[in-house]
Amino acid sequence: MSLIRIENVTFAYSSQPEVPALKDVSCGIERGSFVGITGVTDAGKSSLCRLIAGYVPHFFDGELSGRVTVDGIDTAKTTIGELAEKVGFVFESPFDQLTGASLTVTEEVAFALENLGFPREEIERRAKESLERAGIADLADRHPQRLSGGQSQRLALASVLAMQPEILVLDEPTSQLDPLGADEVFEAVSEMHRQGYTVVLVSHDLERLAAHADRLIVMENGRIRWDGTPREVLLDAAASGYPIPIPDVLRVGQRLREIRRVDPHVLMPLTFEEAATELTRVFGVVPAISPFSPSPAQKSIGDSMENKLPRLLLEDVHHTYPREVHALRGISLELDEGCVCILGQNGAGKTTLVKHLNGLLRPTEGRVLIEGKDSREHRVAQLAKHVGLAFQNPDDQLFHGTVEEEVRFGAENVGATPEHAERLTESAIRRMGLNEVRKKKPYDLGLPWRKRVAIASVLTMDTPVVVLDEPTGGQDAPGVQLLGELVRALVEEEKLVVVVTHDVEFTREHADRVVVLYQGRVLLDGEPREVLGQEETLSRTHVRPPAITRLGKRLGLDRTVLSVDELFRSLSWA
Ligand SMILES: Nc1ncnc2c1ncn2[C@@H]1O[C@H](COP(=O)(O)OP(=O)(O)OP(=O)(O)O)[C@@H](O)[C@H]1O
Ligand SMILES: [Mg+2]
Repeated sequence: MSLIRIENVTFAYSSQPEVPALKDVSCGIERGSFVGITGVTDAGKSSLCRLIAGYVPHFFDGELSGRVTVDGIDTAKTTIGELAEKVGFVFESPFDQLTGASLTVTEEVAFALENLGFPREEIERRAKESLERAGIADLADRHPQRLSGGQSQRLALASVLAMQPEILVLDEPTSQLDPLGADEVFEAVSEMHRQGYTVVLVSHDLERLAAHADRLIVMENGRIRWDGTPREVLLDAAASGYPIPIPDVLRVGQRLREIRRVDPHVLMPLTFEEAATELTRVFGVVPAISPFSPSPAQKSIGDSMENKLPRLLLEDVHHTYPREVHALRGISLELDEGCVCILGQNGAGKTTLVKHLNGLLRPTEGRVLIEGKDSREHRVAQLAKHVGLAFQNPDDQLFHGTVEEEVRFGAENVGATPEHAERLTESAIRRMGLNEVRKKKPYDLGLPWRKRVAIASVLTMDTPVVVLDEPTGGQDAPGVQLLGELVRALVEEEKLVVVVTHDVEFTREHADRVVVLYQGRVLLDGEPREVLGQEETLSRTHVRPPAITRLGKRLGLDRTVLSVDELFRSLSWA
């Protein structure tokens, strides 16, 4: 019998009784399997997780029919507490998971184990081990509420791993992690899977999911749309143009079959290594020549600012948080135009840096000039007219009763007239695709929606500089596309757009300039092609170039390629 059995489950949240989040779902999950779950926003992924962990119906109110059993126990007839010993659940938003009761990271991880009365040595051993697995052993003595977003996400994961529950339910556990960190977490979870743990993991990261899961479920509209091996499911989804982010390695395999360089019946590559092997077999290692001319170089930064100050000028900016956390260690930058993506490992200082761009944080040394105004000498309210910042965690920003009010607040905040505020609100709602949810309470919406609402409310401030801190984390493929279009449109309007992101695919597509941070300093700064080509330097700060770029390097191309098209153009020349 399946370890987890879901039988004809329909569930509607009480905030949304007319549209069930899960509709007549039935499926079994076997002991020791690794099930990946994906799908667009609101498809029912998180609800399925909550169902398995008992949060539906014990924590979320609503109408439930059907039955769920975990190891023979009916989840409706037990408690979350009892289930927690069997099912560990990592929430979508790590900020919701932290207990708020611990003074150090170690205490936080030990918290549940202590409640369960484990012996001291066992607690210490497990805490240490799970912090290592989550890659934050060096933060053991830090305060859990004073971590970066990615560090918090790692802590939430570590707290659950420490419990060693037989079943791990992980709702987008790597959405805020740097690329090498995401690899490590997938590796750590796979290792537990190999040891016999059962894993259910929701993600939009299909490249990693396909490489690790043995089964992939695509949810759609509260139902299971596909359920099979990752290869079967991704091929079907790709063939039907389904809006999930099909990995580039698969597109490479498809292209090779289309141009008949590989027999269409040969098994499609699914991982980076498989794609690399296939390409090398077809093309060999190609001679180093410059095979195509990349799109014309961007106007070099600085051309337009000979006689005037850039919009944002940072001079040797340092920021030290209490208890000697040196988050920024001397950053000098001129930011004036285009889309600037900021990359770097968790804790590198990205969020700290962008909070200096609107005066929310002031340098502890050095200075920041915002449209020529020294941030230390002006109030945040004054600076807000120049720079709008959407936070990494949207919940730090949302407090109105409806989406519409929330979005309008941005405009009111900078003193727009009622008519102008109205126009700005409508435009932001349209741009962020919020029309269908405009009358809803932000808190009744899922995290990806709340993020869009927070961004929309920054757009209505209509500032010349727009800063987005990890806008794509947790967004589905249509959401990422919408953000891409937004960024392009803002740049067209001659705004400066600064985007903090771990998403190298987004970066290669939309950045005009890439600034990479490493331990509070600038490691690289230049055009995307130049920066993303530097695999070794990037790895110091846990960033990895896109798969397609690495494939080009593996084949020996001397130019950095950034897309499947560019790769094939180079190869056809060779
Ligand atoms: N409120 C705070 N108090 C003390 N230290 C903090 C605080 N916020 C962040 N830090 C620390 O400052 C450093 C930089 O954090 P920051 O949030 O800027 O990183 P980040 O690059 O945005 O990381 P992530 O990718 O995880 O979001 C980290 O070591 C972090 O733990
Ligand atoms: Mg951050």
